[in-house]
Amino acid sequence: MRDLQHRADGSLKHLISIEGLKRDEILRLLDQARALMPGSEPPRKLPLLRGRTVATLFFEHSTRTRSTFELAATRLSADVLHLDVKTSSTSKGETLLDTLATLQAMHIDLFVIRHPVSGAAHFFAQHAAPGVSILNAGDGRYGHPTQALLDMYTIQSRKAPDNDFSRLTVAIVGDVQHSRVARSAIYALNTLGVGELRLIGPKTLVPEAFEDLGARISGSLDEGLADADVVICLRLQRERMKGAFLPSEREYFRRYGVTAARLKKAKPDAIVMHPGPMNRGVEIDSAVADGPQSVILDQVRNGLAVRMAVMATVLGSPVPRPNLEGAGA
Ligand code: CP
Repeated sequence: MRDLQHRADGSLKHLISIEGLKRDEILRLLDQARALMPGSEPPRKLPLLRGRTVATLFFEHSTRTRSTFELAATRLSADVLHLDVKTSSTSKGETLLDTLATLQAMHIDLFVIRHPVSGAAHFFAQHAAPGVSILNAGDGRYGHPTQALLDMYTIQSRKAPDNDFSRLTVAIVGDVQHSRVARSAIYALNTLGVGELRLIGPKTLVPEAFEDLGARISGSLDEGLADADVVICLRLQRERMKGAFLPSEREYFRRYGVTAARLKKAKPDAIVMHPGPMNRGVEIDSAVADGPQSVILDQVRNGLAVRMAVMATVLGSPVPRPNLEGAGA
């Protein structure tokens, strides 16, 4: 596939997928995000995207991704337009291409797109006008690259401040099959050189084909969590399941729910992550989600800075050098 994501000079133009990004490129985005993390002082606006316009198009529901993208664009002084898909002319049959062309006529610089169909963001990038950037905010099962970047930021902050991911064992638990979060995280972890990557769940939700991505698959939660440094819990993606993948949610929780007792198998200082939204009592117990090892709300906070960094980068307004001094992990 042609490299749509980069300009001829190698700079990032669109972010559609983690696949195709180099290790240095990921680490640079994380550095930029670190420089943008607010301290204890109230957040202030930066002028990096003044005069630019960002449009968010969410054809699927979202709390975290949409809010943080819109807040991130506002913090960078961009004008922000949210297209309410339910009340837009897409509900009258307007095609994606006509929607894109219509909004481009309003001089949008950057589109943030979430869509239920895998490949939708790639399709937008193929048809975007030359000066327009596209960010994938989650398409079908394919990818959720900014989620992977904020997950890597969270892991780096807690477990790999020297960027050495090779010492880490990361366990991803649950519905890998339907998860764009898992696919993007797997590519990101491999690119950053993770030591060991485990995927844990029933065969129906963790197919053997994922071994081709360098992961070790386990049907046993206790075995998969043993001595893990990082535990990433995944939501059961009921909306993407066609047919019977599970006996029942109760049985699923019994076998694969991450509880405080099961978490004891991991390292004592292991961190627990979840992209959200969580199904408490299905893939994760509240005692873990709200417990001392949980970094789930850190992930949300980190998402804001990561999305600011990505938007500034694709629009060619990277964080200025003085902010970056001392920002390295
Ligand atoms: N993690 C994530 O994508 O959450 P939202 O669906 O709330 O955006």
